[in-house]
Amino acid sequence: MRLVLATANPDKAAEIVAILDGVELLPRPPGVSDVAETGETLEANARLKAVALVDATGEPAVADDTGLEVVALGGAPGVRSSRYAGPEASYADNCEKLVRELAAADDRRARFRTVALVRFPDGREVAAEGAVEGTIARRPRGDAGFGYDRLFVPDEGDGRTFGEMTAAEKHALSHRGRAFRALAARLTSP
Ligand code: IMP
Repeated sequence: MRLVLATANPDKAAEIVAILDGVELLPRPPGVSDVAETGETLEANARLKAVALVDATGEPAVADDTGLEVVALGGAPGVRSSRYAGPEASYADNCEKLVRELAAADDRRARFRTVALVRFPDGREVAAEGAVEGTIARRPRGDAGFGYDRLFVPDEGDGRTFGEMTAAEKHALSHRGRAFRALAARLTSP
């Protein structure tokens, strides 16, 4: 199967290529403009991104959308994770804001959730979700990964943040690993 990868984020693209072993992924063609993530759910945003690439290329496209849901913040930043500290926020800005907001919090539970979605030119869709439960560290640890990885300690790990793990260790546990493995299983099941 051949799918156009809708993400323009090189960090996410590298992870999806590593996880979706066996699927031929075409890079997002240059010149396709960024899609405004105006949806109120992860699934709606994944669909917006995939539809834009189907419209631009006429090929099936795969997209994902991810949110970090922090219990003490009522599920925020959630669908707004990329712009938590403002519309142009960097990964560092978002992490600093999260550390500040949780400075006095004893309840540090959080969950990463990803929706991965394939859209075909005839309008058919296959979607899957993946999640990982964990806690938010008091300060960033590690040099690997991206986004909030240096703050997220998965419950099923050994106390390290995703930022302290190898890529393979992260994918084995992560929201994105789970979502894309489930998606691949659905795409290949009769
Ligand atoms: P997106 O809307 O799917 O691009 O993801 C929203 C934001 O969540 C990104 O800008 C990152 O800050 C964060 N994010 C997404 N995936 C991950 C991950 O695997 N680890 C850490 N942060 C992530």
